[in-house]
Amino acid sequence: MDIRSFNREAWDRQVQSGKNPWTVPVSPEIIARARAGDWSVVLTENKSVPREWFPPLTGLKILGLACGGGQQGPILAAAGAKVTIFDNSPAQLNRDREVVQREGLEIRTVEGDMRDLSVFGNESFDLVFHPVSNLFIHEIRPVWKEAYRVLRHGGSLLSGFMNPLFYLFDWEDMDNGILNVRNRIPFSDIETYGMERLQKEDRPAEFGHSLTDQLGGQMDAGFVIAGMYEDHHNGLKISGHIETYMATRAIKI
Ligand SMILES: C[S@@+](CC[C@H](N)C(=O)[O-])C[C@H]1O[C@@H](n2cnc3c(N)ncnc32)[C@H](O)[C@@H]1O
Repeated sequence: MDIRSFNREAWDRQVQSGKNPWTVPVSPEIIARARAGDWSVVLTENKSVPREWFPPLTGLKILGLACGGGQQGPILAAAGAKVTIFDNSPAQLNRDREVVQREGLEIRTVEGDMRDLSVFGNESFDLVFHPVSNLFIHEIRPVWKEAYRVLRHGGSLLSGFMNPLFYLFDWEDMDNGILNVRNRIPFSDIETYGMERLQKEDRPAEFGHSLTDQLGGQMDAGFVIAGMYEDHHNGLKISGHIETYMATRAIKI
């Protein structure tokens, strides 16, 4: 099973359907405010990334890693950064190109797999911005290693990801408001629910990674974790009990 290809096509269809909020580009008003210095971006669903996690943006070389959709990339570019958006889905990258054309911005868009950033040289970015997306790949340690390699010393990796707790509960029961512990971490959507269901629901395959791979993986790649926060999922039963997104600020010292 080629997960990358499966999820590329699944994300392209998410864009066509127009129902996934993470495929909807930002408005001209948000870009105008960003140009005037009034900007914020998310790594998770709701909370803005603390401004102090960013160095001054003017001229900052930022890699938006698995960050297509015409959202954070255009905001950061309008606020003065030199942005490259890297994503597996051509349709998601087109969203960024649409905003670039509409707003007269400059963004480099690159199609590829987040586990392989060989298209970029060592130490070619000041900051890697990696919103919640490593749930769409079954192995994340290569992602942390590659992010470390392409960052300059002193640069930061800002990442959003899922708390593995999220994947413990049966999804169908959760839709009906019942928290039924059923699954194991690491979690594979494909192994647990099967391809047939994935195809019927027409959505990308998801993977639940351990905290050892999420946090330990960043540290093993060489990063020092210097900040973190949690965020809640909108409209889910589990959100009444715990925040299921995490975000970290990791430094290549
Ligand atoms: C939830 S969206 C994240 C981007 C969005 N702008 C946001 O704010 O969160 C997840 C993105 O991950 C991308 N993606 C999935 N698998 C990938 C892979 N193996 N390599 C690179 N990008 C991938 C998808 O195409 C999608 O654009």
